[in-house]
Amino acid sequence: MGGLADTTIDPFDIFREVIFRLTVNTTTSLNVAADPDGCNALLKIFHGLDLAATPVTVLFPWFFGPDRMRRFYLMKQFYNTRRNTINERKLKGRNDDDPLQFLIDEGLSAIEITQFAVAVLFTGNANTAVIAPALVCDLATHPSYLSQVREEIETFISLFNVDTSLPLKTRIQTIAYDEWIRPGAFPIMERCLKETIRLRVGTPLHRLTHTDKDIQMGSVIVPPGTIASFHTSFVHHNEDIFTAPFEWDPERFTQGREEDKKSPMAFVGWGVGRHPCLGQKFATFETFLLTALTVMLYDIEVVDQHGKGLIEMPPVGLNNPVVSPPPTAVHLKLSAHA
Ligand code: HEM
Repeated sequence: MGGLADTTIDPFDIFREVIFRLTVNTTTSLNVAADPDGCNALLKIFHGLDLAATPVTVLFPWFFGPDRMRRFYLMKQFYNTRRNTINERKLKGRNDDDPLQFLIDEGLSAIEITQFAVAVLFTGNANTAVIAPALVCDLATHPSYLSQVREEIETFISLFNVDTSLPLKTRIQTIAYDEWIRPGAFPIMERCLKETIRLRVGTPLHRLTHTDKDIQMGSVIVPPGTIASFHTSFVHHNEDIFTAPFEWDPERFTQGREEDKKSPMAFVGWGVGRHPCLGQKFATFETFLLTALTVMLYDIEVVDQHGKGLIEMPPVGLNNPVVSPPPTAVHLKLSAHA
């Protein structure tokens, strides 16, 4: 990310590419992650799968309409790339230390490995690729937080490498994953991230009642086979819980205010119950690392597609079926940070 000074970028595009590569690297194959073109080709397939995931394909999976056909075609393309990677490994006798090799050694078929890869790349990418750039934009539109976060990151890096004359990349490359996610390592950035998630995750969560008997949810009896939906906005943007809910205000989580403790499920940004997010630590690591690289290397300004400065982010869209980038273009103007 070091060579972008004096350019304007779409952070929701650039971060998506970087996060996709990080996810491929950590959850599937090292050799695919090392090849940017191969990764971008995979990302294109994923983007197509996302676009073709309409409510009809989710609610009526047996209906073979145009979107379903498109998904089938893209899945076949994805399967082909997986099969080629697996065959190449077997042919060349490669023995990489990565999840793909583990699954091959466990004797899984190419179809089973593809199913795993699709699931993990989808869950691993979908939310982080929106939340990480949104956090950077929220910081850019709140300069006092931006400078506090910069100071916090500099203090953190100095614990491991005090030599500020070295390039940032050199200073941070020896810092272990566990350090980035150690509780309390970034108190300010932690509450900024939580606030970005609260404000910007405004989508429905669904649950299929896959039992043979009725389930009681609060005062409602839910029969077997029902899909129960809950919109995060019912709590995240509820003014009985959060003061001025559409304002980005990380202080609402500080001791004394703790607005998220007002009701048992006031904050559901990482999911709740028996199936919360399994990738919370990894997502936090990716978000903190990318934020550190961006804000320590660049001065940042949020602009629209014409380069006109924006003092605040566009309001979150509440009709999206999944966590989505802002409804109107948001770009970042970068200049070298002194
Ligand atoms: C900022 C980024 C992220 C946010 C805000 C987020 C949020 C969530 C939420 C709200 C759920 C629960 C969904 C529901 O109940 O319907 C969930 C589930 C899940 N997330 Fe994340 N997630 C993020 C990143 C990740 C990453 C990076 C991974 C993996 C690498 C991941 C893996 C999962 C998995 C596997 C589940 C399903 C858990 C289960 O059903 O037992 N997430 N996430």
